[in-house]
Amino acid sequence: MLNEIEEIIPFKLPIEQKESLINGNLVKFNEDKVDIYSPIYEGDKPIYLGSHPKMSGQEALLALDAAAKAFDNGNGIWPTMKVEDRIKSVEKFLTMMKKSEKEIVTLLMLEIGKSKTDSAKEFTRTIAYIEDTIFALKDLDRTSSRLVIADNVYAQIRRSPLGIVLCMGPFNYPLNETFTTLIPALIMGNTVIVKPPKLGVLFFKYLLPIFEQSFPPGVVNFIYGDGATIVSPIISSGRVDVLAFIGTSKVADIIRKQHPAPHRLRCVLGLDAKNPAIILNDADLNLTVSEVISGSLSFNGQRCTALKIIFVEKKIAKDFQRVLLEKIKNLKIGLPWEDSFITPVAEKTKPNQLYKLTEDALKKGAEAFIDGLPVELKDLKEYLPENENDIKSQLVKPIVLWDVRENMDIYSIEQFGPIIPVVIFDSIESPLSYIIKSQYGQQASIFSNDPKKISKLIDPLVNQVCRVNINSQCQRGPDIFPFTGRKDSAEGTLSISDALRVFSIRSLVAFKGTDENKEIVDRILDERLSNFLNTDFIL
Ligand code: G3H
Repeated sequence: MLNEIEEIIPFKLPIEQKESLINGNLVKFNEDKVDIYSPIYEGDKPIYLGSHPKMSGQEALLALDAAAKAFDNGNGIWPTMKVEDRIKSVEKFLTMMKKSEKEIVTLLMLEIGKSKTDSAKEFTRTIAYIEDTIFALKDLDRTSSRLVIADNVYAQIRRSPLGIVLCMGPFNYPLNETFTTLIPALIMGNTVIVKPPKLGVLFFKYLLPIFEQSFPPGVVNFIYGDGATIVSPIISSGRVDVLAFIGTSKVADIIRKQHPAPHRLRCVLGLDAKNPAIILNDADLNLTVSEVISGSLSFNGQRCTALKIIFVEKKIAKDFQRVLLEKIKNLKIGLPWEDSFITPVAEKTKPNQLYKLTEDALKKGAEAFIDGLPVELKDLKEYLPENENDIKSQLVKPIVLWDVRENMDIYSIEQFGPIIPVVIFDSIESPLSYIIKSQYGQQASIFSNDPKKISKLIDPLVNQVCRVNINSQCQRGPDIFPFTGRKDSAEGTLSISDALRVFSIRSLVAFKGTDENKEIVDRILDERLSNFLNTDFIL
């Protein structure tokens, strides 16, 4: 398998990574390690890709000490540095990061099975995100570079860092979603501890030396290993100020509860979702099916924003099924570098979970179509191994579950994989009450050509979810748009400009407008004595 692409892999496998970045040094950890396997199999065995350190709780605390030292209660070089100079550090990092594109894109394909196009997109989108963040911060700084006057009180209001940020990204967007919190946290003057996800971790090896060269010691630190072992001591120390976490609400709750004073821990969370599509009788079928397929099957459905349940009005249901199954049959299934649309799912336990959800739905009366063709309950046996360690492949062909009902597990469980569950409805109350009762509240999609029907849905839906998409799938981008959710789906809002706010707090320097005070402040400004109280304008 690998020999097919050996000549295009820009590194030698396996990658045995022994270092982590702590306090500005690439520190070697020789003892324990975590082995990383690809979701791609050579014969019936997953390809061994390499390993990274498995740090102990004590070793992880070294990263916390380094971040605390670099922040130095707000007195460190980084938090007191002028915005312009912090921007220069991030620009330096960006220039060097661009040179690692090939390594990062290849490792995304090998480690999480993301298609070549999507892996490349994740890289370029992240680069654009950093560039846009720099642009947004310059803008923010320009508006803060003047004094405001009210009631003869003069003030300069700026955004200041919060302290130490623990940043944990997800396996499905290990680069992009880690950076959508890491970069704003850093550029606002915080110091950061990064815990890479379980999968999508090896490529960080190429970024560690770049972080080392771009930022003062202790500003960026990495911890590697088992989450419970390395995150618990850091959070329970009570010294972390912000938790930026993208993953499941269950894990977010476990982490947050370990903080001795949870009210002090600001949380920026991107969590679970089960975004519904509502397809009305008058929808354009071709467009709807294309959006449903890319909405529910892009990156094999492993997106928090994926369409995870489809409500289709009864009159159009049969036609929708015909077009959907036809299009699914034509999807390219295979390996990431062949640029297939459906590729092996990232998690080893996932195929079993997906077939179990399918089995449950079939037992309770749904129909199943795999690869566009009907499948009986007895046929499902061929997909279900005796136990999940017997898995011979992580390639799961798209499964349509037809006529899903409330008593089936797939109705409420977030599948995070290539299953399209379809519910047929007579009354619009059915999808609406689903959304109201749901524990999730991220986004929804409406498919219809009738402005009146659409607007009747918009008004109740915007108060249940945080983005309503008309005739299109759910998605996070463009990244300047607010990305958030209600209920179990999120806490805090991310967009390029919102993220700068989330990782900072407004602080001001104020003085009464007496002649004496004006004279003092004039000198501070003229002689550029303070990095905070200054009116320099970034050009
Ligand atoms: O996994 C959740 C991602 O934020 C989804 O982003 O909609 O751009 O794929 P996306």
